[in-house]
Amino acid sequence: MIKVAPSLLAADFGKLDAEIKRTMAAGADYTHFDVMDNRFVPNMSFGYPVLEAAVKAGLPVDAHLMVVEPEKYIDGFAKAGARIITVHAEATNHIHRALQQIRQAGCLAGIALNPGTTPECLRYLMGDFDLVLVMTVNPGFGGQKMIMSAVEKIAEIRRMLDEAGVDAIIEVDGGVNEKTAPMLVEKGATMLVAGSAFYGAPDGKAFVDHLKALEK
Ligand code: DX5
Ligand code: ZN
Repeated sequence: MIKVAPSLLAADFGKLDAEIKRTMAAGADYTHFDVMDNRFVPNMSFGYPVLEAAVKAGLPVDAHLMVVEPEKYIDGFAKAGARIITVHAEATNHIHRALQQIRQAGCLAGIALNPGTTPECLRYLMGDFDLVLVMTVNPGFGGQKMIMSAVEKIAEIRRMLDEAGVDAIIEVDGGVNEKTAPMLVEKGATMLVAGSAFYGAPDGKAFVDHLKALEK
């Protein structure tokens, strides 16, 4: 089944609990939680207490750390209750160590790639991550248009994982909507993040059902 993770960034922050309950009722699998530090990306979002509140609201939390020196935050987000923690390959000098740290903290370990980053950096990390997050927009903001050259990477990553016999989630983040989702799944995505498209959908359950039905 395709997993669907609505991004909290597009929610109404005045009623986070209700917004997350809405994603649960729609059948979503995770709350996608975008952490921004105004250094790795030109924007700031939320931190530990908000993640704790998101966990309490009911869905497992998929924390996407768009921060420099992510190793400083991994234990804190694990303690706050994140189920998945994803760090950017571009944000640390020691991605291997950061992935190990995530697993040691009891979470699934994700590695995110910016649109301009080659998937070649995954080759010597096979088996060390549980998820690859393919950014299909430049990170920092919701509601952007999908970058098609980044979409091409999905199939390449799918091939690399299959050749290595590694069973990892391929998550796609940025510009996912009902129109773009089919080609992402076709190329090998198994988890889709949707911010503006989910929260802007007139019927959240129909939106999630549609994405889940794209299973190959
Ligand atoms: C962007 C974030 C995304 C964002 C996606 O930096 O990582 O998760 O919320 O928003 P949409 O789905 O609107 O492109
Ligand atoms: Zn994200």
